[in-house]
Amino acid sequence: MTTGRRASGVASLESYLAERRRVVEEALDRLMPPADAPPARLHEAMRYGVFSGGKRLRPILAIAAFELAGGSGSGVLTPACATELIHTYSLVHDDLPAMDDDDLRRGRPTCHKVFGEGVAVLAGDGLLTLAFQVVAEDDALPAERRLAIVQKLAEANGPSGMVGGQVADVEAEGQEPSLSTIGFVHSRKTGAPIAAAVVVGAIAAGAPSEQQAALASYGERVGLAFQIADDLLDVTGTAEEMGKAVGKDHERGKMTYPGVVGAEASAARARELVEQAIADVAPYGERAWALEAIARFIVERRS
Ligand code: IPE
Ligand code: IPE
Ligand code: MG
Ligand code: MG
Ligand code: MG
Repeated sequence: MTTGRRASGVASLESYLAERRRVVEEALDRLMPPADAPPARLHEAMRYGVFSGGKRLRPILAIAAFELAGGSGSGVLTPACATELIHTYSLVHDDLPAMDDDDLRRGRPTCHKVFGEGVAVLAGDGLLTLAFQVVAEDDALPAERRLAIVQKLAEANGPSGMVGGQVADVEAEGQEPSLSTIGFVHSRKTGAPIAAAVVVGAIAAGAPSEQQAALASYGERVGLAFQIADDLLDVTGTAEEMGKAVGKDHERGKMTYPGVVGAEASAARARELVEQAIADVAPYGERAWALEAIARFIVERRS
């Protein structure tokens, strides 16, 4: 992987993202059971969820943090893929009729629409457990780093993180808008997994604790900004760009950031979080360029 800064601006970030997306997708393909291995329907559903054109933001953040921390070689690749396996599981379950009841994801019919609800639930379960298996078995990393990564991923995605946030999200449907509730939901359902992806990259690189703390703070801030942007795009985006239905949050009575403070204040808060995230990593100079550019991309994106 090349780490140097290219010419400048958007073209440079675009090529950075495209190159790392390719590397991540090749590794995901290697790590996942073949589609025809029995039970084929389960493996087809897992692959359908994963290989459908996501941005791969979480694994790319893990790689960018690893690079900032001076990591070299392929030690980050499997943990990076684990973040994408867990993320895809969260999307497959998030789209189920019992949750957000969505028909379109990543530009295609949702997993349960194609494979049925039972297989979609189990495909999500399979992706989640596979994530921990591949990290535990990853001989590119010393055992103590694998353990720290497993701990961080479990903490950020379990009851105190994403799963807890998803429950609070569902419970908040139709409730009186509240800044403290939306902060609770967003920091857990989206902030925690994104922050964990960044920290996992730092752990894989063996980053010192001070650097890990700076990266964790960066991750929490971009994670929160990411969900605010997602809420805004549900209002201002199109299904073609997003690859998922828009206008659904209002329809389902979801509590969203723009619903609580308005669109303008939400956009301002997202920009403020991004500037603070950039300040977290700015002390690392040139080595922080990719994380800085990704932070800006998170609020400027249209998909
Ligand atoms: C969507 O995440 C779910 C949220 C946390 C808002 P992404 O926007 O990263 O989805 P993909 O992976 O690119 O499809
Ligand atoms: C989902 O948030 C966060 C997850 C943990 C999957 P949303 O429900 O807003 O995500 P989208 O809009 O369906 O992608
Ligand atoms: Mg949801
Ligand atoms: Mg949803
Ligand atoms: Mg959303």
